[in-house]
Amino acid sequence: MERVKVGDKEFTISISASHIQQRVADVAAQINQDFKGERPLFLAVLNGSFVFAADLLRHITLPCEISFVRLASYQGTSSTGKVQKLIGLTESLKGRTVIIVEDIIDSGLTMKELLAMVQAEAPKQVRIASLLVKPDNLKVDLDIPYCCFKIPNDFIVGYGLDYDGEGRNLPDIYTVVPDSL
Ligand code: IMP
Ligand code: MG
Repeated sequence: MERVKVGDKEFTISISASHIQQRVADVAAQINQDFKGERPLFLAVLNGSFVFAADLLRHITLPCEISFVRLASYQGTSSTGKVQKLIGLTESLKGRTVIIVEDIIDSGLTMKELLAMVQAEAPKQVRIASLLVKPDNLKVDLDIPYCCFKIPNDFIVGYGLDYDGEGRNLPDIYTVVPDSL
């Protein structure tokens, strides 16, 4: 079985590049079907989604736009302290069909916050497309109509996802080897 070292950990291949490509094409076909007559705006969340977004978009046959956004933590004035803010959004979302493109939904807390911020801009509709979802770890209720893979609660890297900043360039997806933890 193919293994790689990323940082101080060992990873073993869990989803091959060809399987990823096949699922990304399937999900894009579903989006093409569901949004006939629409001109969606894809909002890709950096950094992790850059590879998925690039592959997904090349299978989209609808007239569409893409914008890259990032969630940044800043010290808020609220009692909760850390507040997330959306940066990089230059387009108006008012009345738009928005498809959020994420790499992975783990607890879902990031997506829940992002969704609220997007919804506050009064779009026509918002849908979530995520390459990966860890359903056993979801702590919030989220509708994720476009998902390529549901995976167990293991830490993964590759295809845009990182371990401590590294591993995003791997074409396949790898799972951490437990004894290397
Ligand atoms: P959530 O708010 O718990 O859903 O966290 C989502 C974010 O955690 C993702 O955008 C990733 O940056 C990170 N993340 C969660 N699981 C993994 C993983 O297995 N590998 C790499 N990053 C992960
Ligand atoms: Mg992400």
